Amino acid sequence: MPLGLLTDWVELLVRWTHVIAGIAWIGSSFYFIALDASLRHAPHLDPRVKGETWQVHGGGFYQMQKFVVVPEFMPEELTWFKWEAYTTWIFGFVLLMMVYYLHPSVFLIDPAVLDLSPYDAVVIGAASLVAGWVIYDQLCKSWIGQDTPRLATVGFVLLVAAAFGYTHVFSGRGAFIHVGALVGTIMVGNVFLLIIPNQTIVVRDLIAGRTPDPKLGEAAKQRSVHNNYLTLPVVFTMLSNHYAFTYTGRWSWLVLAAVFIASFLVRHWFNIKHTGAKPDWRLWPAAAVPMLLAAGLTLLGQPRLRAASGTVAFADVQSIITAKCAICHQAHPNYMGITEPPKGVLLDTPAHIVALAPQIYQQAVATRAMPLANLTQITDDQRAQIAAWVKQGAKGP
Ligand code: HEC
Repeated sequence: MPLGLLTDWVELLVRWTHVIAGIAWIGSSFYFIALDASLRHAPHLDPRVKGETWQVHGGGFYQMQKFVVVPEFMPEELTWFKWEAYTTWIFGFVLLMMVYYLHPSVFLIDPAVLDLSPYDAVVIGAASLVAGWVIYDQLCKSWIGQDTPRLATVGFVLLVAAAFGYTHVFSGRGAFIHVGALVGTIMVGNVFLLIIPNQTIVVRDLIAGRTPDPKLGEAAKQRSVHNNYLTLPVVFTMLSNHYAFTYTGRWSWLVLAAVFIASFLVRHWFNIKHTGAKPDWRLWPAAAVPMLLAAGLTLLGQPRLRAASGTVAFADVQSIITAKCAICHQAHPNYMGITEPPKGVLLDTPAHIVALAPQIYQQAVATRAMPLANLTQITDDQRAQIAAWVKQGAKGP
């Protein structure tokens, strides 16, 4: 098996596992937040029980009760929820290495943003994830963390600052994936370094007959609520990698900020609804405002380019594409780890070029996502010629 095919298979398996574990993790996070919110107190319940809820699923009925601290006995078998989170992060980090850190000059570095060496880019990327966790964790433990609105405001400002910083260091795509990786690292850090250790102490205390410190449970609950609100943003950053218009514009960091606000509002709507309270429908139009703003910012932030004046001949466009694009977009590319035409896009014959004119315009003129990291050094003048050719009807030879 050629090496390129083998590494592509490995990457696909890693990605598949990452996504499936992520679905399981987010699913359990959504489920437990909803379960917690649906608990109702009733007079017949054990006073140590916070509340009870009944659920129907899979042909049977479940009677769920939550003991906040001390159940009468420690059940012999206790199901923990942690491997969903760990698996998501581990495979996500391997994927980050395979796609970005093994070929930093392809996906991570954009010399037009900052001319980093491959080594520096990888070190900055990986170190920023650790730094992000430490700052967030200290913030939660400080006086700021004692008040939810205060913590949410400061946390949001820092997150937007991180997005601003990343977009001024990495390529748009590399920046967005690092915002996602940063948030994902914070979320798994919450599970690995706080929620599970705290719960382990509580369980040990219970077995030893000691009364556990309720603060341990409260801190774990606080972090699990943070994780719940962070799920929608983190999934957006992952998906955005497939939509160049989100990360190529001037205001891409503001686009992320607006999308994050919208997703917090949507998550909040669901969380209110789960408590059984009347859901606040105003949250949906409120979320639509930042989403429209995000869409407007992607439009406004696109680089302006004057289409070349005068008629552009197909032969001129073909020679640009052959020189600047076909090195990767051909049947058997052999360039910087690219061993097959990316996304199946072939730009090697006149017929292919004419058929893909709208996509060429979108990638090379509107968003400038291509040529990737401008590795083939296309000039603005050449982009303008492509623009003019498309505007003139994208005629073939
Ligand atoms: C260094 C290699 C390289 C060069 C040069 C390059 N591309 Fe690409 N191209 C890629 C890769 C990798 C992808 C897949 C990106 C992804 O996974 O999102 C891609 C994707 C595309 C897509 C599909 C985008 C989508 O999201 O569906 C189009 C269209 C495209 N390139 C056009 C061009 C054009 C036009 C040029 C020349 C101006 C060009 N490419 C130059 C590597 C390259």
